[in-house]
Amino acid sequence: MATPVKISALGTYVPPRLLTNADLEKLVDTNDEWIRTRTGIHQRHIVDAGVATSDLAVEAAKNCLAERGLAPDDIPLLIVATVTPDMLFPSTACLVQHKLGAGRCWGFDLSAACSGFLYALTVGAQMVASGSVPRALVIGADTMSSIIDYQDRATCVLFGDGAGAVLLEPTGPGEPAGIIDFLHQIEGEGAGFLNMPAGGSRLPASSETVLRRQHYVHQQGQQVFKYAVRKMYDLGNELMARNQIEPRQLDCFLSHQANRRIIEATTERMGVPPERVIINIGEYGNTTAATIPLAMAEARQRGILKNGSLALLAAVGAGYTAGALLLRWSL
Ligand code: UT7
Repeated sequence: MATPVKISALGTYVPPRLLTNADLEKLVDTNDEWIRTRTGIHQRHIVDAGVATSDLAVEAAKNCLAERGLAPDDIPLLIVATVTPDMLFPSTACLVQHKLGAGRCWGFDLSAACSGFLYALTVGAQMVASGSVPRALVIGADTMSSIIDYQDRATCVLFGDGAGAVLLEPTGPGEPAGIIDFLHQIEGEGAGFLNMPAGGSRLPASSETVLRRQHYVHQQGQQVFKYAVRKMYDLGNELMARNQIEPRQLDCFLSHQANRRIIEATTERMGVPPERVIINIGEYGNTTAATIPLAMAEARQRGILKNGSLALLAAVGAGYTAGALLLRWSL
């Protein structure tokens, strides 16, 4: 990158209401033991009726700006990664800009499902690195409860709502490098395994699409599971190899949180010491674009993400989308 870019602030937000495994036992034929052993999840945070993705995003953005002591008008570029925009258009970025009161800003939404935060982080960093903008606010936010079928036990136990925001700025002299390198890939042949079939131009909303429950997440879990482990391993390894980094040198592995077993299988195969791997899916479930900033916050709290720490970020999501990013934390 032309100018090195760092994450200079982090803010997260999850709605206070909890949906526990016991709550789900009352809705579908499932049980706490199955959910915990197959996914690692014991609860998720879920919005109240009327709360949308832009609301979560704004709270995360406010927390992020407060950490850096900046005002909304200091944000020249805003990128929101989400697959659950408040509406198909206008973009959630526009709604967040208005609610925040960021008066001198442009921005857009980025759709890459569970890899959304990683992709938005990459795009935002390139804009700062090129000198086009002095800083960028990147938000990953999803209200998955708005597109989950609470009659489908195979998906409803997996997802939660949440948001995370980071500020990107040029790395100062003598500071740790910030974002070092990234390696992303999309493979559309995976589109059939994880999607929301209706509501777009292929299958516009109709009473039939509603009756067929096509406005909900549909997933073939085993295919996605295998792809996720293989791809996070392959991209992560290739990225580390081309930067002459050994897995044991990582201070922190920040993975998308889709399933505890996916993260464990990937990192065991890679040889990352387990104490350096963040797994917080138990508390939040899969919050799609918000999982990685929520994992960052947890890593900071645990003390394994501090000034100078080397971190590998990795994600796989619907699309398929996949990515890995290396950074040296400087906060
Ligand atoms: O973030 C986006 C990317 N998404 C992912 O990475 C998700 C990847 N996939 C997964 O995490 C896992 O495949 C799941 C958690 C979705 C499912 O776990 P699994 O070990 O692959 O289970 P399975 O789909 O093979 O189902 C095993 C059994 C089935 O019953 P039979 O056919 O063996 O009788 C399911 O019907 O478990 C049953 N089952 C459930 N039982 C209790 C499925 N969901 C549930 C449930 N409670 N909630």
